[in-house]
Amino acid sequence: MTEKKVLVIGGAGFIGLHVVEQLLEQDWTVRIFDNMVRGDRDRAAELAKSGRVDVIDQDTRNGAAVYSAMKGYDYVIHLAADSINKSVADPYSSIDINMVGSHNVFAAAADLGVKRIVVASSASVYGDPQKLPMHEDDKLDPLTPYCIGKRTGEDLLGYYGRSRGLSWIALRFFNVYGEGQKTTAYYTSVINHFVNRLKNGEAPIIDGEGKQSMDFIHVRDIARAVVLSLTSETGNVPINVGTGIDTTVAELAHILIDAVGVDVEPQFNPRDVLVSRRAADTTRAKDIIGFEATIPVREGMTALVQSS
Ligand SMILES: NC(=O)c1ccc[n+]([C@@H]2O[C@H](COP(=O)([O-])OP(=O)(O)OC[C@H]3O[C@@H](n4cnc5c(N)ncnc54)[C@H](O)[C@@H]3O)[C@@H](O)[C@H]2O)c1
Repeated sequence: MTEKKVLVIGGAGFIGLHVVEQLLEQDWTVRIFDNMVRGDRDRAAELAKSGRVDVIDQDTRNGAAVYSAMKGYDYVIHLAADSINKSVADPYSSIDINMVGSHNVFAAAADLGVKRIVVASSASVYGDPQKLPMHEDDKLDPLTPYCIGKRTGEDLLGYYGRSRGLSWIALRFFNVYGEGQKTTAYYTSVINHFVNRLKNGEAPIIDGEGKQSMDFIHVRDIARAVVLSLTSETGNVPINVGTGIDTTVAELAHILIDAVGVDVEPQFNPRDVLVSRRAADTTRAKDIIGFEATIPVREGMTALVQSS
């Protein structure tokens, strides 16, 4: 049997650390490769004390560093990315990290004959969805350099799959939330905003009627999907990772009011807002990696509020 060791690129980040914890629980040994720009160096160092984690402080834009860190690893998880927030302000960095850096990872994996690479894509490859739930075969319409980078990543994986037999899975994460998330996280910053107001006894303020929705998925569910993808029999497809449930901003406000336990009602700020909605079609995740989300939004949000 192949040794259970895996290289996790971007493994010191929000999702990465949850992935590493689950890998350790399942007896994998782990190499974290992270430039620590957004990574938690202290937590990574703590994990390294287990003797089953080593940490390489390097950058995916350094192709030689990627290649040498990957040597001897049959399994790779690639989570490193320049964040969606930065992509419009600094498209150069976004393209550099999310396209050139990711290509270094994919090319090294193909050259080294990696058995499976699991890559973080994003639901943002769909752009504004035409219908719900969003299915993997729906038209893609990535709107910003970050989203274009994610789509290009999937296309490059397709190329290395066809030309070099690389076995890959790209996971289109929906709106990830949970313990350890940075307060600036793009789609889910609304959670923080509401919780901060509620903790001061203030009502959450909602733009428009609060009908815009997201498919909030807990980071521990996301991490489970990543680990399942390492060993699934079939691959070479993008897979949605969401709950399939769209939670409106108004519903979110009520969930968080209950979680914080304050006696307020949300306030509505009447203005025209673009009502975007999101919910994943989860059939493919069930069929290919045997994954279904198990943490209901109310439970996950309540735990998050209680831990903060
Ligand atoms: N959090 C979400 O809601 C969400 C949704 C969809 C997709 N994703 C994707 O999931 C992945 C992980 O997201 P996250 O929320 O954990 O982000 P994060 O920023 O917390 O983690 C990314 C990690 O990658 C590292 N990194 C960044 N650039 C690097 C580089 N050039 N070389 C080496 N390391 C580098 C950072 O230091 C960080 O530790 C990303 O690819 C992201 O695009 C996240």
